[in-house]
Amino acid sequence: MRVPPALHGTDALWPLCLEIVRHRRGLGPQPAPDAKRPFAWDPSRGFALREDAWDAQAVELFALLKPVLDRPPESSAWVIGQLGQSLDGCIATRGGDSNFVNGPEVLVHLHRLRALCDAVIVGAGTAAIDDPQLTTRRVAGENPVRVLIDPSLQLPATLRVLSDRQAPTLLVCDATRADEAARHIGAEQVLGVPGLMKNAGGPPDLRVLLRALQQRGLRVLFVEGGGITVSRFIAQGCMDRLHLSIAPVLIGNGRPGLSLPGSTAMRDCPRPPSSVFRMGADVLWDLDLRAANSPS
Ligand SMILES: NC(=O)c1ccc[n+]([C@@H]2O[C@H](COP(=O)([O-])OP(=O)(O)OC[C@H]3O[C@@H](n4cnc5c(N)ncnc54)[C@H](OP(=O)(O)O)[C@@H]3O)[C@@H](O)[C@H]2O)c1
Repeated sequence: MRVPPALHGTDALWPLCLEIVRHRRGLGPQPAPDAKRPFAWDPSRGFALREDAWDAQAVELFALLKPVLDRPPESSAWVIGQLGQSLDGCIATRGGDSNFVNGPEVLVHLHRLRALCDAVIVGAGTAAIDDPQLTTRRVAGENPVRVLIDPSLQLPATLRVLSDRQAPTLLVCDATRADEAARHIGAEQVLGVPGLMKNAGGPPDLRVLLRALQQRGLRVLFVEGGGITVSRFIAQGCMDRLHLSIAPVLIGNGRPGLSLPGSTAMRDCPRPPSSVFRMGADVLWDLDLRAANSPS
């Protein structure tokens, strides 16, 4: 009688993902395949699972995470963003309540992305309204560095990310205001970026922010929200990939998700290469924004 091959599931895959990331950070050896972890690696294609040896859930999860796992150790900054939105395009109610737009499967996915990235970035609005912890408490894996973009220094020092010491936190402002911020929350929690607000009255220059984070060894970056911040990264050409998770809920007159400069003709609207993943009752669109920007 033919014995069916052993199938490995997501419980076997996740520790492998963490090992890959430890290697990328220079903290462990390159993972090697064995009978318990059948996979392959080559410099041009990155990691690949031996699909006959893993169950369908593991194969699907790997396909979703592979772009993050394939980051080479010494490359420039690479940015993945996320938004969880309603069918009518809102990420929170008008008053700011977003607990929870998406179901538990998407929340676990966000914690996985935090664990695979060097830093998690949020805008001041999200930090002020949600007071998030930005940790990996739903999954195994290290907490990322937590980055708050707050050029106007509006955020209170009592926020959990600035006071709980669960992971390093960096409040980002223009270098000209770094001393003021340091008096408020401590110099070790301030990243003053020269030229961040060189366009007076305009948005932060995210390219200079990415360079400053890269200089600190933070290269694989997860922009978790909110809508204004994710939209600014896309509009400035600073986002490589976007996970847009759509929940079967209607919020109505809520806070908008993406808000991008428009085109007058449909033929000029970007259609990034995409894949779709089912996440419980929600649907996650994985958009390759870099491919959408590159000439075909
Ligand atoms: N569903 C999701 O995936 C998701 C993810 C993250 C956040 N959220 C929700 O999104 C909302 C926040 O997103 P957002 O697009 O409005 O902002 P955001 O992208 O988090 O932050 C950017 C803007 O926040 C502004 N801001 C707004 N209210 C603020 C406040 N009370 N304190 C300090 N700065 C504030 C800043 O204004 P200035 O330009 O004037 O400095 C800045 O332009 C929250 O309701 C949060 O719950 C949802």
